[in-house]
Amino acid sequence: MKEKINVFDHAEMIEKALRKGILLNSNGEKFNSMVIGWGHLGIIWGMETFTVYVRGSRYTKKQLDLTGEFTLSLPMNEERDPKIFEVCGQMSGCDIDKADYVTLEEPDINHTPGIREFPLTIECEVLYQDDIPDHLRKDILDRYYSRESDKDDYHTMYIGKIVDAYIIK
Ligand SMILES: Cc1cc2nc3c(=O)[nH]c(=O)nc-3n(C[C@H](O)[C@H](O)[C@H](O)COP(=O)(O)O)c2cc1C
Repeated sequence: MKEKINVFDHAEMIEKALRKGILLNSNGEKFNSMVIGWGHLGIIWGMETFTVYVRGSRYTKKQLDLTGEFTLSLPMNEERDPKIFEVCGQMSGCDIDKADYVTLEEPDINHTPGIREFPLTIECEVLYQDDIPDHLRKDILDRYYSRESDKDDYHTMYIGKIVDAYIIK
């Protein structure tokens, strides 16, 4: 069962959850999910949106570019399933099937499932995407995109229109 919600009623909780990491699900070649810590709720062009930032090296980027949609999955409290968090935050969908580690919940509007273990669910369709490097301040460039491990591995911003939001019961 799904209890529909107004996402903005949960804004404070979403902001707290982001600081520890939430799940960004995609469903292109296959289901995949990755932990994100950067993102925000907003309003643009008269629509409620959730914007996420994905580095070019992520399997998730390939999937988002294929489908133009994503679903976010958040925990309802401080506790997170550590195994799911480890798999989705440290391993790549290029190498493993993350669907083997989670319980999928069919979406209502888009085509990207939610995750029962992370019940607060936000289904999105991408309205706009853009690559970050243009006009980036030098201090940010140095801090996030200049080390050996992240050199030139820029983020793409995806503004997702919120098409549905609910808590999986
Ligand atoms: C707490 C936390 C926050 C993260 N936030 C982001 C993020 O906002 N954007 C991003 O591109 N990667 C982020 N990552 C890294 C990805 O979750 C990680 O590289 C993941 O394995 C990518 O999976 P994929 O290749 O299957 O897409 C974060 C990881 C952790 C642990």
